[in-house]
Amino acid sequence: MRTERIGIIGGTGWLGGALAEALMDTGFIEADRLLLSNRSGSHPLEKTGARLMADNQGLVDACDTLILSVRPEQFKALNIDATGKRVISLMAGVPSQVIGQVTGASLIVRAMANAAVEIRQSFTPWHCAHDLSASEVDFIQGLLACVGTASRVPSEDAIDYLSALSGTGPAFPALLMTALAHQAVAAGIPEDIARSAARGVVLNASQLLNKTEPQDLIDSLVAYKGVTAAALQSLMDAGFEGMIGEAVQAGAEVARRGM
Ligand SMILES: NC(=O)c1ccc[n+]([C@@H]2O[C@H](COP(=O)([O-])OP(=O)(O)OC[C@H]3O[C@@H](n4cnc5c(N)ncnc54)[C@H](OP(=O)(O)O)[C@@H]3O)[C@@H](O)[C@H]2O)c1
Repeated sequence: MRTERIGIIGGTGWLGGALAEALMDTGFIEADRLLLSNRSGSHPLEKTGARLMADNQGLVDACDTLILSVRPEQFKALNIDATGKRVISLMAGVPSQVIGQVTGASLIVRAMANAAVEIRQSFTPWHCAHDLSASEVDFIQGLLACVGTASRVPSEDAIDYLSALSGTGPAFPALLMTALAHQAVAAGIPEDIARSAARGVVLNASQLLNKTEPQDLIDSLVAYKGVTAAALQSLMDAGFEGMIGEAVQAGAEVARRGM
């Protein structure tokens, strides 16, 4: 049985709330050891037994691990002293150095979840510049794994880069699905069929990638020299991979610049 307390500032928000629910549902922490804060007061999560507070410093003082899940632009107004606490920030674009300056904390973890926390399918990379004991690593991994899978990454810059990759959650597939549907309609396919076809490819057929390496699949389809090969070759000739690289770099630059 875990004896420590976890506090989430912004714990009734979209990301903080999904994490709070998952921490309790998976048994990672008992509800009475979970503290949540917001500015607006009562929230359905109170019914779980988690304690909802308006006093951020009170929450910080009462917890061992502090999770920051406010929006980046709301962070500096928090006015908290978290000296001596383990701080896990879920905020995009707020460097560890700034978190340390603002909160007084020295053990800072930056984690980058994505929208799929809602269905507990987030891939969440995290970074901590400190040497961590095996039990601390297990704790952080276990906490983040409540909403999917998690991996420690070797640099904070990797978090900024990955903010624009895994942090974007369903965004790239949504763009692909929309483009496929729009182009099918433009080619004369009825709209409902176009949407079903695009959804079938992006959501359903992609499940095959659970058991096949993507590069192996591409190689075998190109070698087949059929319809799919022609479509793939057209994309590759148009610089698809380079475009993806530029897109992720554009997002990463925003994360690196800070918000
Ligand atoms: N959404 C995503 O897909 C995504 C992906 C990766 C990372 N993130 C990061 O996750 C963080 C949270 O995003 P979100 O989408 O969950 O935002 P959100 O739904 O707006 O949640 C923010 C929460 O912070 C609370 N809050 C704001 N100021 C506060 C204060 N002074 N004291 C206590 N609570 C305060 C808000 O509640 P009140 O308004 O009641 O105070 C709200 O519950 C962001 O930093 C974002 O960069 C989000």
